Amino acid sequence: MHKPEATVIGLVGGTGDLARRMVIPGCFHLMLAGLLPDACRIVGLSLDELDDDGFKDVVRHSLEEHARVDLEDEAWERFSAMLSFGHAQDASDYKRAIGAAEKALGGSPRRLFHLAVPPSAAAAVVKTIGEAGLADEDRTRVILEKPFGTDLDSARTLNASLHEILTERQIFRIDHFLGKEGVQNVITLRFANAFIEPVFNRDHVDSIQIDVPEALTIVGRAGFYEQTGCLKDMVTTHLLQVLGFVAMEPPVSLHADALRDRTGDVFQSLQPIDPACVVYGQYEGYRDEPGVAKDSTVETFVAAKVEIDSWRWAGVPILLRTGKALAAKRQVVTIVFKEPPMRLFPWEKDVKDARNALRFDIADPPGIALEFLGKEPGPALTVQESELQLSIDPEEVEELLGPYERLFHDALIGDQTLFTRADGVERIWEIATPLLEAPPKPLPYAQGSWGPEAADDLAGECTWELTRAPV
Ligand code: BG6
Repeated sequence: MHKPEATVIGLVGGTGDLARRMVIPGCFHLMLAGLLPDACRIVGLSLDELDDDGFKDVVRHSLEEHARVDLEDEAWERFSAMLSFGHAQDASDYKRAIGAAEKALGGSPRRLFHLAVPPSAAAAVVKTIGEAGLADEDRTRVILEKPFGTDLDSARTLNASLHEILTERQIFRIDHFLGKEGVQNVITLRFANAFIEPVFNRDHVDSIQIDVPEALTIVGRAGFYEQTGCLKDMVTTHLLQVLGFVAMEPPVSLHADALRDRTGDVFQSLQPIDPACVVYGQYEGYRDEPGVAKDSTVETFVAAKVEIDSWRWAGVPILLRTGKALAAKRQVVTIVFKEPPMRLFPWEKDVKDARNALRFDIADPPGIALEFLGKEPGPALTVQESELQLSIDPEEVEELLGPYERLFHDALIGDQTLFTRADGVERIWEIATPLLEAPPKPLPYAQGSWGPEAADDLAGECTWELTRAPV
């Protein structure tokens, strides 16, 4: 992987929860992997009354709690030598804090701002960066966190305000699912090999399923969740972004825009989501969580059937499902293939029990499995369900960067391939509009279940792969 050029990293909201859980440990892991720039400064920017030493204490605690490895003295010394803090209220504060770090590095280092701020504050922070004279196109990049708006209008307004200060080339909208090794397996398997593509279309595929059940409840995130809900937290972000990769046409190259043009085509051909093809659920006990309204109608579960109206996928049901407090934690993309034209071998089970499917496990450790019917050992020419599995060596898994870190490094080297683009984000909100305007009533479901039964009815004959197979 490339070593980034000299950079000043500005962590806006650098003492908050996201920075302490993900961003600071992420930078630390990149340093350990030798992937931070040799000349690097990390500047915490927030409204706290802290000095450099106070910020270093925050960082040290963050690493003690969230780093994947024990904090050794030598590593801490190297990391803490990069840190400084700026109380950042207005443009002159930004200019002073970033300017001092640039001076310490010498020359004209790049700047990478990470905005760990509420979405409503993102545009204002970018404006301040502009006012401080720190938004030069050839030097500055900005990482933004989801959600990128909450509907089509707010997404357009946000993008328009960002574009007043920054060009699209400078904006890195992070969706950590795209940093997952398992999601990248989808494009490598599809486009590094010749045998998948001929069957990867409506002639051979029965359904595409993106299934991300989570076992945890909202665990103390009521404030965020009551505002956001499952659709915006997971579906209009992670699941649809993953679908972009699963369903895309072959790109002409791996350049960021070549790839994002093709995922953009998927979003363009996704049909507006019909609320009649969506099931919302709310787990029993959700309204008793601290901070949740007693009459909350926020959905903690979404199952949806969507369609891509394209030459390749027209008519193929695309099933999406995710939710909290479900029976398992999995992150799975399954391509279910049609049955063979005739059943030659005796098989007493239902046809749907014996299907061919290609399954990508996208959670770490990632894996790929091919489900098929193989010969049952013995004298008779009978078949049984079989599976070919490809998993990566546990030692290699340990060496992998986390998805978030991988993307942070991409932003450091200016590679936008795995970041979402303004047009894609807006199109997703556009297709979600009918659902946002007429959301179904959430149906109750028991914690530890697979959600409301209506979600099984929605899948119909396609049946959910995860519920069908032993989990
Ligand atoms: C986050 C959502 O973006 O992704 C969470 O806000 C969800 O609600 C999480 O649990 C899933 O992430 P991971 O790390 O399990 O892939």
